[in-house]
Amino acid sequence: MTEQLRIIFAASEVEGFSKSGGLADAARALPLHLKWLGHDVRIVTPFYRSIPENHKTKTVIPSLGIPLGSEESWCAIRYQEMEGTVEGKTIRVPVYFVEHEHYFFRRGYYDDGLHEYPDNATRFGFFSKVVLQLSRTLEWTPDVFHSNDWHTALVPFYLREAQQETADFKKCGSVLTIHNAGYQGNAPGTFRNSLGISPENFVEELFEDHGQLNLLKGGIHFADQVNTVSPGYAEELKTPLGSHGLHEVYRRKGQDFSGILNGCDYDNWNPESDSHLPARFSAADLTGKKQCKKELQKIFDLPELPEVPVIGMVSRLTRQKGFVYLLPALPQILRLKVQLVVLGSGELWIANSFDQLKQEFSNKLGWQNGYDNNLAHLIEAGSDLFLMPSLYEPCGLSQMYSLCYGTLPIVRSVGGLKDTVIQNGENQEEGNGFIFDEPDSDAVSDAVGLAVSIFYNHPQNFRKMIDRAMKQRFTWKTATEKYVTLYRKTLK
Ligand code: ADP
Ligand code: GLC
Repeated sequence: MTEQLRIIFAASEVEGFSKSGGLADAARALPLHLKWLGHDVRIVTPFYRSIPENHKTKTVIPSLGIPLGSEESWCAIRYQEMEGTVEGKTIRVPVYFVEHEHYFFRRGYYDDGLHEYPDNATRFGFFSKVVLQLSRTLEWTPDVFHSNDWHTALVPFYLREAQQETADFKKCGSVLTIHNAGYQGNAPGTFRNSLGISPENFVEELFEDHGQLNLLKGGIHFADQVNTVSPGYAEELKTPLGSHGLHEVYRRKGQDFSGILNGCDYDNWNPESDSHLPARFSAADLTGKKQCKKELQKIFDLPELPEVPVIGMVSRLTRQKGFVYLLPALPQILRLKVQLVVLGSGELWIANSFDQLKQEFSNKLGWQNGYDNNLAHLIEAGSDLFLMPSLYEPCGLSQMYSLCYGTLPIVRSVGGLKDTVIQNGENQEEGNGFIFDEPDSDAVSDAVGLAVSIFYNHPQNFRKMIDRAMKQRFTWKTATEKYVTLYRKTLK
């Protein structure tokens, strides 16, 4: 079964071009690894205004017409290769960008900073239609259309419709990967017309959800295979508590719904070679990590105290990440002998709370509101502990990065966090992090308190945990092989 597969990979963000979170990391790493394994994969993604100008994309299709309801909307297709390295080998993956000024030349990808764009369903419905139309225009039919999250969840639906109408795509399979089931692409039912969702498809088992359209829900039904990004989250999604309302839909998929743990991109996130850092380090020699810590304290204007543990956070500022119960716990945590550095962007109420805390704990809290990849690397490297108290976490990449930088994660026992971090147990023989269960302020304070007490009182144990953390590997190679198996299941 070594036959090469042809894959169209559709994603609303791809690292290097656009990124708001881990979806972008996955949408870069997985195609690079597919190519590295010998498969023919092509990415399709929107051409946002913010795509850095140094990307010399060229227009390959000047105009492509797409029917939207009774109208036709036009876009252009730009092209560029995405370059990356996998295990030292240079890999190039073709990327097609969908250029549509009205839909994608906006301040944000999904919102204007405060509110989601009201026409998101149309924007990404349009994008999903383009994915199929592009395949026709290029006369390049894939074996599998791989879509990601609600933004491209209509691809399997449009594929099924096309298969019923023409012979074009008869043999194509579809995979839908859910990186975050909390976002489902909800829209008023009136969007049906422009999206081409007929009344027969606007029913409870398909796209209808409490009178509204739910694009993810319909997409799950129509995709041949559905997966999410960790086995733990896949199990949670089948329960009323963890499913964001769609447990019946996941359960109905039976064997066609599974969990594949994301990999960690060790070519990009590696303390031994990370060019974002002032110094590099390895498990055998942590001297460089101390320099990173010093630099981190300097940048955040905190006292340069090597003996005080720094707790790092790099996060989207959103409810998912547990701020509702973390924020009330922070005064107590900040009264410990610790420093906390936080980098995040997102919801205003969370940013405002950090602004206020900063006034009270100016000597202990370093806080930057914004998105900064360099600083994200420095926080991963220079901190001693990394805090991720998520309410839910489909996989989580940041804790994987922190493990490999010897920055022990303190995480809540959910989804991918539970699948990747090993509790520091009684016998101290196997832990690489600290885990707590309840999503409440006491639980997170206690977990931080335990981590800090081991840092001060049992430095040798702490050091052994660092060694174990830095040895842990979650490779994209393993994940990619599982995706290939999933693709093969969809072949007709
Ligand atoms: P999620 O995708 O839910 O945001 P992950 O842990 O899977 O969570 O991935 C987050 C990714 O986004 C990581 O690569 C992290 O470094 C990055 N990231 C998040 N917030 C910021 C920020 N403010 N600045 C820089 N990078 C960020
Ligand atoms: C989502 C999830 C995160 C996951 C990432 C990549 O943004 O919130 O847990 O790691 O996608 O799959």
